[in-house]
Amino acid sequence: MEVADGEEDVKMEDAGAGGDAGVEKQTPAKAERQTPLMRQREVMEKERSGELRFETITNDGKDDTMVQLIALKNIFAKQLPKMPKEYIVRLVLDRNHYSLVCVTDGEVVGGICYRPHFTQGFAEIAFCAVTASRQVKGFGTRMMNQLKQVVKKDGIEYFLTYADNYAIGYFKKQGFNRQVTMKRERWAGFIKDYDGGTLMECPLSEYVDYTDLPKMIEEQRAALIALIAERQRPFERAVHPPLAERLNFPLDEHGDVIGSRVSITTAEQIPGLVDAGVNLPRYEYRVDGKPSTLGAILEHVLAPLVKHESAWPFLAPVDVSEAADYYEVIAQPMDFATVQRRVNIGYYRTLRLFVADVRRIISNCLAYNGEDNVYGQCARVVESELDKGLATVREILLAG
Ligand code: ACO
Repeated sequence: MEVADGEEDVKMEDAGAGGDAGVEKQTPAKAERQTPLMRQREVMEKERSGELRFETITNDGKDDTMVQLIALKNIFAKQLPKMPKEYIVRLVLDRNHYSLVCVTDGEVVGGICYRPHFTQGFAEIAFCAVTASRQVKGFGTRMMNQLKQVVKKDGIEYFLTYADNYAIGYFKKQGFNRQVTMKRERWAGFIKDYDGGTLMECPLSEYVDYTDLPKMIEEQRAALIALIAERQRPFERAVHPPLAERLNFPLDEHGDVIGSRVSITTAEQIPGLVDAGVNLPRYEYRVDGKPSTLGAILEHVLAPLVKHESAWPFLAPVDVSEAADYYEVIAQPMDFATVQRRVNIGYYRTLRLFVADVRRIISNCLAYNGEDNVYGQCARVVESELDKGLATVREILLAG
C-alpha cells in the first residue's frame, strides 16, 4: 500500500484485519478440497461463460466508471478497516492511479488499485481486496494474474507493494518476495518508505502468459514426464546378463577379494554402468613426475616403510599374549603384513584406500599405547616416512 505525501498518519499495520465483520468468510480450510489449479480453471470457466470479467479503469469522469470505482472503494474500506477512508478515496479516484476491477453478475466483487511508474518500469500496488463472501475462491489470484498481463503491455517489469501482515501469505503465492531486486535508485523516492507494512516485489516474466497459467503448468508437466520417459527408455531396453564373476569373486584365505584375478578390473567394464550416466572415477598415477601404475606406486611407498627400523612393532598383527585386551580396544586392527598382502593381490583400487590402511596402523598404535613410549615414537616416525613417500607420488583424478 502506498502513502502519499502528507499522509504520514496512515498506518499499514494490520490494515486488513477485521474486515467485513459478521460476514462469514470462506476460510482456506473450507476450500482445501480444491487445488489452486482447479480453482483457477473454475474462475477461467466463469470468464469464458461471461459470468465474470475484469476491467482496467481510471477516473475518467464517466458515470459508469465512477460507479465501479466507488464500489471498489467500498470493498477496500470494508476489507481494510484500519486504513483511513479518505485516503482510500483519494487514491482510488486519483488519475495517476488505475484499478483492475473484478465484476461478476454486474457487481464489483474485488479489485486492485495501482499506480504505474512508466518511466521506472514498475507499478506500485496500493490496495488489493476481494469482498468477503468471494474470498479464497481464486478471485484474488485471477485478479493479480490479469493485472500482470495488463501492465506488461505498458512496459512494467515489476510490482512493488507494502503488504499488510495479514496478506503476506497471499502475496507470496502470487510471486512476491520480501527481497527487492530492483536497484534502489529505480524505485526509491517514487514510493514512500514507512513502517508497518512489508515491502514486497514481484518480477514479471516476459515469457509467461499469466492469464493462462494452468495451460503453462500442464505443458511443463507434460514436458517433464516426456523427458523422464525418454531418459528411462534405454534402461528399460538394456537388460544385461548377470556378471558371473561378481557371483564368485575369488577371495584369499583372509577373505580379501583378489583384485588382480578378477576379470573385471575397472568399473567401466560392468555392462550398462556408463550408459546409465554413472560417472566413474579414472585416475592417472605418477612417481617422481613420471607416469606409473597404481601397483607400482603402492610398492614404491610401502617398501621403504616395511624396511624402516621403526616399523618393527607393526610388521605383523598384534599378538594377544603380549596385549591381552588389544582386540577389545582396537576395533579395526591393521599391520604391514596385511597391507603387503593386499598390495600383492591387487586389493587396493585407489591410493586413498592404501593410505587409509597405513594410517590406521599409526592411529591404532597411538590409541592403544599413547605418544610417550617406544611404540608411540615408532608410529610417529612411520607416519613421517609415509608422508615423505607420498610426496613423491601422485594420484590424479581424470574423471568421475
Ligand atoms: N493470508 C495468507 N494466505 C492467503 C490470504 C491471507 N490473507 N488470503 C488468501 N490467501 C491464500 C489462499 O488461501 C490461496 O492459497 P492456495 O492457492 O494455496 O489455496 C491463495 O492465497 C490465493 O487465494 P485466492 O482465493 O486467489 O485469493 P482471495 O480471492 O481470497 O484474495 C485477498 C486474496 C485479496 C488477500 C483477500 O483475501 C482479501 O481481500 N483480504 C482482505 C484484504 C487484504 O488483506 N488485502 C491485502 C492488503 S495489502 C495491500 O492491499 C497492498
